[in-house]
Amino acid sequence: MWLLPSCRRVSQKLFTCRLGVRALKPERARARKSLTTALVFTGAMGYLTMRGEFMGFSKKVECQGTKIEFENPNVTILEHSLVPFLLSQIRDPECSTSDYRRFSDRIMHLLIEEAIAAEPMNVTIKKTLAGGDFECYRLTKTPNDFCAVTIIRAGDSMLPKMFELMPGIKVGKVLVQRDESTEDKRSVFYYSKLPKEIAKKKVFILDPMLATGGSCSLVINRLKEEGVKEENITFINLISCPEGLSCLTSAFPDIKIITAVVDPNMNEERYIEPGLGDYGDRYFNSD
Ligand code: URA
Repeated sequence: MWLLPSCRRVSQKLFTCRLGVRALKPERARARKSLTTALVFTGAMGYLTMRGEFMGFSKKVECQGTKIEFENPNVTILEHSLVPFLLSQIRDPECSTSDYRRFSDRIMHLLIEEAIAAEPMNVTIKKTLAGGDFECYRLTKTPNDFCAVTIIRAGDSMLPKMFELMPGIKVGKVLVQRDESTEDKRSVFYYSKLPKEIAKKKVFILDPMLATGGSCSLVINRLKEEGVKEENITFINLISCPEGLSCLTSAFPDIKIITAVVDPNMNEERYIEPGLGDYGDRYFNSD
């Protein structure tokens, strides 16, 4: 249900009053929370804002906390009302594995949709059943023109959402790992298995964390060896930081990057701060 801006403001106030979490006992609050979650799935912006207020944060920025800008036309930072809320859940060390997976998956869905929406579309004018004209969008490329390449292992967690949005997409895998014994945690290439004719495809690299940029650079170089053009590569990423973004955009100026948030720092172990810790360990519960 879409609400006009003025109606939305009034309804938000009413809704927030009626569902004010502080006024509810814990079990009723849980029931209300599920109701709100169900409403969120409607995707209506009015409800999304209401959810924010219900969950106790009214200013997006406060919750996302660390979001900083990175000016580059090839870097897209996801703009979605739910991102601050979802990120705050998975940053929390007390988030259970099941919630971590659930909330991460939801952000991945948004990120991958953003990447697909940025692909060229054919627009034709059609008529609705009611008789009016509308612009009908279709991807110019077919599913067979795309390939997802995961960076093992954390990138594999993004595949189910990729399959949901692009069933039948070809998949390549690359194993690169940080050498923890080196001071700069240099990435080392171990293995790749890429689909034939990848050179002709649009490639989505999947990896949730962009820290130094070392791993992703190795993967991009591997793709370029196979003949993939930089302009046909989109790196889909959850949390980035300025160092990783600078590394990739300076070495590969024509790739596109889609990220949910840019965090400000890396710690001495070259983990993003505040970040969320080791993404793969938390997603796969392998601590
Ligand atoms: N990989 C992770 O899982 N987390 C980081 O912060 C950096 C790399």
